[in-house]
Amino acid sequence: MKAKIDFLKSDYKEKIKNAMILKDLEELKIKILGKKGTLTELAKEMKNLSLKDKPIIGQALNEAKEYIKSLLDEKFLSISAKIKEEKLKTETIDITLPGESAENGTLHPITETTELVKDIFINMGFDVVDGPEIEKVMYNFDALNIPKSHPSRDIQDTFYIDDDVVLRTQTSPVQVRYMLNHKPPFRMICPGKVYRPDYDISHTPMFHQMEGLVIGENISFADLKGILIYFVTKVFGDTNVRFRPHFFPFTEPSAEMDVECAVCHGKGCRLCKNSGWVEIMGCGMVNPIVLKGVGYDPNKYSGFAFGMGMERIAVLRHGIDDLRAFFENDVRFLKQFK
Ligand code: DAH
Repeated sequence: MKAKIDFLKSDYKEKIKNAMILKDLEELKIKILGKKGTLTELAKEMKNLSLKDKPIIGQALNEAKEYIKSLLDEKFLSISAKIKEEKLKTETIDITLPGESAENGTLHPITETTELVKDIFINMGFDVVDGPEIEKVMYNFDALNIPKSHPSRDIQDTFYIDDDVVLRTQTSPVQVRYMLNHKPPFRMICPGKVYRPDYDISHTPMFHQMEGLVIGENISFADLKGILIYFVTKVFGDTNVRFRPHFFPFTEPSAEMDVECAVCHGKGCRLCKNSGWVEIMGCGMVNPIVLKGVGYDPNKYSGFAFGMGMERIAVLRHGIDDLRAFFENDVRFLKQFK
């Protein structure tokens, strides 16, 4: 039996050495170590051995098993390495093929304009704040001194969610929210989306505003003019501006600010409706009624506020004549504002 075992060892050593592929190895393994493998069958003959021979042959069988297993493992590793090497040799990358280029996106012109305007005010010490787009009627109208009968409250001009809640029609309610939570002095701006049921070449149902509010002691209309004129020169360069008296319920006195038309430089054209001027924002001294409403003492504190449309500023900066183009997401249009 010992001779049989030795024969198997050298026979399989040769066979394993000659195996070319993993499948050959698998077959050899089954042939010798499997349930009906040669070595397994041989072990079954142990029962016929004498007590003296049993342990000797048993040990020889175990050794043979381990020996063959280690040969199989060794060969398995060397075949696997060869397969990998072959793969690396054949699977070459053709570095002359053109790569897939990733295109850079661009900022939307409204985003780009908003960032520009924000930076100008941030550099003057303004905080940037946020407010909800779904707003209470109380903040959107009541607290801003807008009378119950005001036409802007009509369902033709405001998207109502229910009697007490609207899609905000302006960023001005954020003034109220901010004042209720802060003590003067402060300066803040609030950029954001607003909603009104309009749709034509100069109106879209959603558009963007930027609100501004400065409150402190001894703030005057001269401060308002100083800050807003500085802002306009930063955006449009050295250009003529004018303040026209106007009315807003939440400011007193109120004004609208015009800049000289960037297209015709005051000569008159389609954009400025031949007036030479384009209105860019509403502004004024915060109405004492609004100050009292948020618990400020109007004898101690005063301030000014302003509100502008981002689309209007972007139109003037880029000379675009149809506002709807901003929201049609035509990449050919949007790509121009790199
Ligand atoms: N909320 C106004 C509008 O949507 C704009 C405005 C005007 C805001 C005057 C102000 C302001 O803060 O003082 O038309």
